[in-house]
Amino acid sequence: MESVISFINSNRERYVEELKDFLRIPSISTNPENKADVARCAQYVSDQMNKSGLQNIQIIPTQGHPVVYGEWLGAPGKPTILYYGHYDVQPVDPLNLWSSGPFEPTIKDGYIYARGSSDDKGQVFLNLKSVEAHMKINGKLPVNIKFMIEGEEEIGSVNLENFITSHKELLKADVVLVSDTSFFDDEMPSIAYGLRGLCYMQIDLTGPNRDLHSGVYGGAVANPINELANIISKLKDKNGKITIPGFYDKVRPLTKAERDAYKKLPFAKKAYFKDLGIKETFGEKGYSILEQVSGRPCLDCNGIWGGFQGEGAKTVLPSKASAKISMRLVPNQTPHQTAKLFERYVKKLCPKTMQIKVTELHGGYPAITDITTKEIIAASNALHKVFKKKPLFAREGGSIPVIASFERLLGLKSVLMGFGLDTDAIHSPNERFKLDNFHRGILSVALFYDELAKMS
Ligand code: BES
Ligand code: ZN
Repeated sequence: MESVISFINSNRERYVEELKDFLRIPSISTNPENKADVARCAQYVSDQMNKSGLQNIQIIPTQGHPVVYGEWLGAPGKPTILYYGHYDVQPVDPLNLWSSGPFEPTIKDGYIYARGSSDDKGQVFLNLKSVEAHMKINGKLPVNIKFMIEGEEEIGSVNLENFITSHKELLKADVVLVSDTSFFDDEMPSIAYGLRGLCYMQIDLTGPNRDLHSGVYGGAVANPINELANIISKLKDKNGKITIPGFYDKVRPLTKAERDAYKKLPFAKKAYFKDLGIKETFGEKGYSILEQVSGRPCLDCNGIWGGFQGEGAKTVLPSKASAKISMRLVPNQTPHQTAKLFERYVKKLCPKTMQIKVTELHGGYPAITDITTKEIIAASNALHKVFKKKPLFAREGGSIPVIASFERLLGLKSVLMGFGLDTDAIHSPNERFKLDNFHRGILSVALFYDELAKMS
């Protein structure tokens, strides 16, 4: 391992330059106008797999964006890891809030800034470099590995279950490895053992059949924006409880042991408030902030529009108003059932003055992973060696829909060994990735292979 480690340490500059090329590609999966960029990004991933020494590399088409696959299976008798990650990124708006271009990677104070730097290109890339280091130094890996990097995670991985079902043999493995989560805080390496699920909805309200003069009709004709605001305001009560009937029926309550584990986590409330520029939080009463953001479900309006959005004033009573609303789910809630409950309640809240359309956009199941497996112990040992601290185990609030699918369709458990930070501003302007975590991530994954091989 010594020579693998020194190879990694002496290639730091090259790694960053190569990562920059990856980050320059605007692979925004939700934008149809970026389709060619997403395809170019798949090609980049495939080239990097080749450079790392992976074999049988394929860009596999789906109904949407392609999956890039590569493998190295030269360690008979040793376990096979299925590495999952994504090369697509979130949109960049609002663009004016970025200090440097979202696709012009910029280094400042030990961070690399760009859309996708932390979520998830930087993390995918570091895993490829761990493979490369072993291959360059030893010509082989201590374990077998399959890489499966998708291009639709940020739009709900809608084609991935089909992909998995139709490639069961190709994806056969012993464990899934993912680097797409965060450390508990800047100083604390962590292994995530829970992710929330997601149910993402859109509401479209139509009032009058056209935009109206708000002086001529205002006062008599109901306004869809006002009505939409009314509906949204009724989805939660003053205690932060979601009011949709049946919403909590499937929620598995936090056990005493789970709540005790939450209490033991070193949460710095003051720093949290300061980082976000807020004076108070608002969440479900009776639960701590950490429980609220990862152990309990939530409901948020993600976007709302209608009427006049331009500069100055236009006196209009609009015909239409819409909102996008997402709910984060915990075990044992399910996305479709939640969507049905949401639709039924919102339709009930809708007044007769409006026509309503409720659409389920996408969703994902929550996941809790087993932390007693030998793979988790190997990951924990690797992080401990590199970061000189025993990692924490924590549930996270974000979603990676495929984790539950791997368990359900392939019977595979996952190791969520991510190197992001909550302060990386993923999905926001000025997304960044801490370069120290990037480099130490490469070392950690390289050591993980070694630890896992030793245990098998
Ligand atoms: N990497 C994130 C998920 C994440 C973030 C997990 C922070 C743990 C901590 C992932 O790329 C993501 O953003 N997923 C989407 C999924 C959705 C579009 C189905 C999410 O959580 O919003
Ligand atoms: Zn991600």
